[in-house]
Amino acid sequence: MKITVVGAGGNVGATVALSIAQRDFAKQVVCIDLERKEGDKTFYPSKGRALDQWQTSPVYGFDTHLVGGTDYEMTKDSDICVITAGVPRRPGMSRDDLLGTNANIVDSVTRELVKHSPNTIIVVVSNPLDVMTYVAWKASGLPAERVMGMAGILDTARYRAFLAEELKISPKDIQALILGGHGDTMVPLPRYTTVSGIPVTQLIAKDKLDAIIERAKVGGGELVGLMGTSAWYAPGAASAQMVEAIALDQNRIFPCAAWLTGQFGLKDLYVGVPVKLGAGGIKEIVEVELNKEEQELLNNSAEHVRTAFKDLERIMNG
Ligand code: LAC
Repeated sequence: MKITVVGAGGNVGATVALSIAQRDFAKQVVCIDLERKEGDKTFYPSKGRALDQWQTSPVYGFDTHLVGGTDYEMTKDSDICVITAGVPRRPGMSRDDLLGTNANIVDSVTRELVKHSPNTIIVVVSNPLDVMTYVAWKASGLPAERVMGMAGILDTARYRAFLAEELKISPKDIQALILGGHGDTMVPLPRYTTVSGIPVTQLIAKDKLDAIIERAKVGGGELVGLMGTSAWYAPGAASAQMVEAIALDQNRIFPCAAWLTGQFGLKDLYVGVPVKLGAGGIKEIVEVELNKEEQELLNNSAEHVRTAFKDLERIMNG
């Protein structure tokens, strides 16, 4: 199993690469990035980063070989490619502010990837996530089940971590579902949140739960405020979990950005929904029953994603 990570000189890409290696299921992780210009502080040459990471293998105890460089020839015949390339958010920016710049980057990166791995599976991490996943899908020419976006695992991880802290319960025992776009309109679903099968609503007061939901929705922004750039540990770990599910054909159920063709009453857009992930990518979109209020929140989030799609078209058509 050969995995490529693009943008691996940056913090998100580097964390994706190391998290994949630590899980020890891949033969090789190829870490790709641009040539670094003198004085550029936004990333480090992935050749160096990958070498440093590979040197952790005796300590962590993994066999996955990490190599880095700038030549896409190295990515030839990758089974799965993760795209993290693009500029990150700075304080005061929304994910949508990155639209034009990152669309061009994701488009060209995807074309390079499929040139060398025409049958690959692509996991997109670049923001704004739902629209960038669409850009990659269009540029790739691949079937929609082979191109998906990572956001829901990250967003639910934040939500689960906050709940674990509040309830003083292991985060391992908290299961949750978040639907919608990867933005402040995302829809955490308390009705589908449990602690080892116990509905969370039985364990926490409504005002506390509501506050946690609101914090989870702007969880990415909280980190941009604290660090001056966007997060990388949780996004990296979440991406690795998706790659592992595909590589090992685990049939895991995760919220991911998937191309909808009528599911949840929505079509012709990428947005976060529960999917079954395994060999070949998305095996199934799992439609759960939503009440009126949940459906309205999802529609609102989808509308937000559609607006970003339209903005992209406007930018692309000058
Ligand atoms: C975040 C960025 C990666 O949510 O979108 O942290």
